[in-house]
Amino acid sequence: MPTNATLGELFPTDEAIPAAHRLATPLLQQHYLCEGALRKWSGPTEDVVSPVWEHRPDGGLGAEELRLRRSPHGTGDGLQPRTIGHTPALGAEQALQVLAAASRAWDKGRGEWPTMPVAARIRCLENFTRRMRGVRDEVVRLLMWEIGKSLADSEKEFDRTVDYIRDTVEAVKDLDRASSRFVLEQGIAGQVRRAPLGVTLSMGPFNYPLNETYTTLIPALLMGNPVVFKPPRFGALLHAPLLAAFAESFPPGVVGSIHGDGRTIVGPLVASGQVDVLAFIGTSRVASLIRAQHPKPHRLRCVLGLEAKNPAIVLPDADLDLAVAECVLGALSFNGQRCTAIKLVFVHERVADAFTERLAAAVDALTPGMPWDPGVRVTPLPEPGKAAAMAAFVADAVAGGARVVNTRGGDSAGSLFFPAVVSGVTPSMRLYREEQFGPLVPVVRFSSLDEPVRAITDSDYGQQVALFGQDPATLSKLVDPLVNQVCRVNLNSQCQRGPDTFPFTGRKDSAEGTLSVSDALRVFSIRTLVAAKQTPANTAILEDVLRHRRSSFLSTDFLF
Ligand code: G3H
Repeated sequence: MPTNATLGELFPTDEAIPAAHRLATPLLQQHYLCEGALRKWSGPTEDVVSPVWEHRPDGGLGAEELRLRRSPHGTGDGLQPRTIGHTPALGAEQALQVLAAASRAWDKGRGEWPTMPVAARIRCLENFTRRMRGVRDEVVRLLMWEIGKSLADSEKEFDRTVDYIRDTVEAVKDLDRASSRFVLEQGIAGQVRRAPLGVTLSMGPFNYPLNETYTTLIPALLMGNPVVFKPPRFGALLHAPLLAAFAESFPPGVVGSIHGDGRTIVGPLVASGQVDVLAFIGTSRVASLIRAQHPKPHRLRCVLGLEAKNPAIVLPDADLDLAVAECVLGALSFNGQRCTAIKLVFVHERVADAFTERLAAAVDALTPGMPWDPGVRVTPLPEPGKAAAMAAFVADAVAGGARVVNTRGGDSAGSLFFPAVVSGVTPSMRLYREEQFGPLVPVVRFSSLDEPVRAITDSDYGQQVALFGQDPATLSKLVDPLVNQVCRVNLNSQCQRGPDTFPFTGRKDSAEGTLSVSDALRVFSIRTLVAAKQTPANTAILEDVLRHRRSSFLSTDFLF
């Protein structure tokens, strides 16, 4: 069992960082993207503090280096957070300039981008993707340093995002092909297409700072909406290498970036009434605050991915080894910092002891370390004070009679917190209701299926559930009521978003709108049509328009 000291020793000195993963620090981002160009910023900045703390005394460092390396959260035990750079802390004025550029690109729907043929938009995006591939190593390294994601998962996030772009291009071609025809109905000829909605503000979360920013930004763009995006607070620097690729690939104003404090820069944008679509992945509290600032909230189309408290239900006939493996993966991938994570495990009392014992052993076997360590499964947490927040959840549960059942559970040093399996959780405890979004696995023992079903029905959240069992009749009895409570029921499998072609959404406080490769194209667009009574004169007009390719909208060209 590692003591706190041994967990602490996992943090590297500068010299111990493998050369391939070292950062040339400090990384000072000095630009933001406005009007199709990188605009230099010389105003206030925000330090980027890495969750990969430094294991080293301060001796021998210069004053500026010390300032950059230190944060108020230093522990005084030889562990110090590392400041790896800074990002611009724009003011409302600059954010509004970025928005104004996007509004010009939109030009009330008459701009070059919203009226451009899909094939031309695809060419811009393919150009961007080529450039994006060129900065893969840099972005992957920053994912590790900024949010503590393991090397394997960071690479997966980057590659999954590139795949998502490729699949989105195919999906938009399909959509275009299906719309490249006229329908004749009741003597009326019509062509129906999907058209953009307007200026989109895209804000992704820190746990998937690249992927979940791009899974809204890219479909919104491809459908013809200019986008202003704001990188999350953690995972901000990794967007810097991509700004030039945006600038070189899209017309001015079509993509803009804003950086800094959300309250300072997001509020004024939304309050201006110039944002038409809000694509936000984060908490329902912040989503409500942002939406409320729009002068006409009914005009603001919202696409929201919010919090969740996905339960697993382990039935008495479950294959326990499989249930344990999937629960560990589901609850603790990226330290439980996934909206789709399993955040509460209901176990039938007949198998509760056996399941909990195996779960505890499996969690204790996870390897803690730095993001680049081979086989690492427990990595540093990016949010300051997160380890203490996890400890507070545990203390609340323990005070109510629960206990931590794995030997290493709750060990902590600096930003590392070893996952805790908390057994005996009951409805009065915070862990039963609140989203922990971190490395805690609360286990609830039940005797009647009514209990987990009631908990799911009464919950504020409704994203997914995972059922573990082997009897088709019992599983079916659960599936039918649960599909009306959540939006994905996983059988003998962890909860997850992928594959990205599957619909990803939730009920109640968990989501608004559906995101899959094809659904995302729909949520960022609206159906609009041109219709004409089939008179000889109208037919002649339509034939002329088509023959001479006079319109992007009225067109039967097939997109190969
Ligand atoms: O944080 C929420 C993500 O959408 C989860 O995606 O299930 O693929 O990890 P994932």
